[in-house]
Amino acid sequence: MLTWNNKDKAFKYSVFLMCSSLEDVEIGLLKVTANGTTKVALAERVGRINRQTCERPPVPAELLKVTDIVPQIPTKLIRKATGVLSLTNRKRLLSHSVVNMKAKKFLLAKRPIGEPKVTDFEAVQEELPPVGEGEILMESVYLSVDPYMRYKSESIPLGTIMPCQAVARVVESKNPAYKVGDNVVAAYGWRSHLVTDPNKMLSTFDGSVSKPQVLPDFGGIPTSLALGVLGMPGVTALFGLIKITEPKEGETLVVSGAAGAVGSIVGQIGKILGMRVIGFAGADDKVEWLKELGFDYAYNYNKVSVREALKESAPKGVDVYFDNVGGQISYDVCTKMNTFGRVSLCGAISSYNDMGDTSKPPLAPAIQIPAIGNQLSIHGFIVTRWLSEWQDGIKQLLGYVMKGKLKYRETITEGFDNMPQAFIDILRGENTGKAIVKANFVNHGFTAFKIFRSSRGSDLSGLGGTSKENKVVGKLRGDVKTCRTVEGDRSRTSEQLQTSSN
Ligand SMILES: NC(=O)c1ccc[n+]([C@@H]2O[C@H](COP(=O)([O-])OP(=O)(O)OC[C@H]3O[C@@H](n4cnc5c(N)ncnc54)[C@H](OP(=O)(O)O)[C@@H]3O)[C@@H](O)[C@H]2O)c1
Repeated sequence: MLTWNNKDKAFKYSVFLMCSSLEDVEIGLLKVTANGTTKVALAERVGRINRQTCERPPVPAELLKVTDIVPQIPTKLIRKATGVLSLTNRKRLLSHSVVNMKAKKFLLAKRPIGEPKVTDFEAVQEELPPVGEGEILMESVYLSVDPYMRYKSESIPLGTIMPCQAVARVVESKNPAYKVGDNVVAAYGWRSHLVTDPNKMLSTFDGSVSKPQVLPDFGGIPTSLALGVLGMPGVTALFGLIKITEPKEGETLVVSGAAGAVGSIVGQIGKILGMRVIGFAGADDKVEWLKELGFDYAYNYNKVSVREALKESAPKGVDVYFDNVGGQISYDVCTKMNTFGRVSLCGAISSYNDMGDTSKPPLAPAIQIPAIGNQLSIHGFIVTRWLSEWQDGIKQLLGYVMKGKLKYRETITEGFDNMPQAFIDILRGENTGKAIVKANFVNHGFTAFKIFRSSRGSDLSGLGGTSKENKVVGKLRGDVKTCRTVEGDRSRTSEQLQTSSN
């Protein structure tokens, strides 16, 4: 309902206003009526976005018109009506200037000792600058949590943003290479939003320039796969197995950390290559899943001795070992390897939490003795060495996924605020397949909802303060973390394949 007649001063309408920061949104219904005398009132509060589920209350369609409506209303009236808006600068209002967007990010606050704690990370808010020429504004959609973040937390300066790759959506663009609505995969960091010149973004891994890659259409499969099977872990598995160990049909392959993002793909590629594949994981349900994936043997290393397991599954010895964990498991596997066996040294997650603790010598070197005895070729690698072939690797992996030869599972944690906990969980083995955080920012529709700020710098978000960063750590505590697994198998129909929740 909107009528506005300036001449006879008889007007009656409702205006919906949204007072918003980027992660705390309040929606209000402002009823403005005037009959001879002007009467304005904040009639109804529609509601707040639920920070746990990120569900928003139903938004009246008229809200979408707010930016059309607002400039028609005299500033005085709005100021009177809302109080909070304090719109002292009508010009700013009329020009729809987008200012005071709040984004959230997580900084490394303390060096973790042993297992990281939520309080090792500090959530801060930052004010985003307007999007300049050549820049884009991105909103995170999926963020990756990976084991390497644990050892990064030993080396990055305190107070810097935690690194990560993310799938982000372009919500505003002044760069012709990126369109609003594009999904990109970017070296993004633990943050909700980012305004940046894409040509100046740096790689999480080696600090080289790393422009966000616009994701192609994956043929209906989720964009989150760009962080897993169709991203860094997929390339790690593919090239880390094939290029490092030159596997051959009929050989025996052992994979540790087999039910993780990398390990689950390594084992399946081993099967594609015609190998005998044995996987070790830390839980019975993971073992069941590995068998579903086609592993010839899978064991829960918490219940079964690795050496005994290999007596059964690798009676002729192990030719290739893809090592994700190091430590005791790796020692046991290496003792069972054939002469001139090959080891792809991908990770040593079993010792990551011991970093920085000088009382505990790292267990990783324990493979030295069997490595000498069995004359093993042990080859460490960092996946970025294959940057020039990266896209070829992704295409190969996509081909396997589309043919149903490569299945995937994702453990999805809901809510950006749960980044620290999701990260802690991978070091506890709580993920199966790729661990992902779904940011759950409801599309704020920057083009539809402009966020206004007065020339005095008053803050519509209710979070207060004009400083660039506001600490919001307290809000993290008590957040409910919901986790679900999503899996895909392209050999089934797209309806069957979608999601299974637990
Ligand atoms: N070299 C490279 O370029 C490169 C690239 C990517 C990844 N990586 C490395 O590859 C490994 C796997 O990465 P990812 O992304 O697949 O990890 P992921 O999906 O996060 O899997 C981590 C899994 O490791 C296992 N784990 C955790 N703590 C463990 C411990 N103390 N002992 C044994 N297993 C433990 C857990 O599974 P269980 O419950 O089965 O124990 C956990 O679910 C990591 O070491 C990572 O650093 C290296």
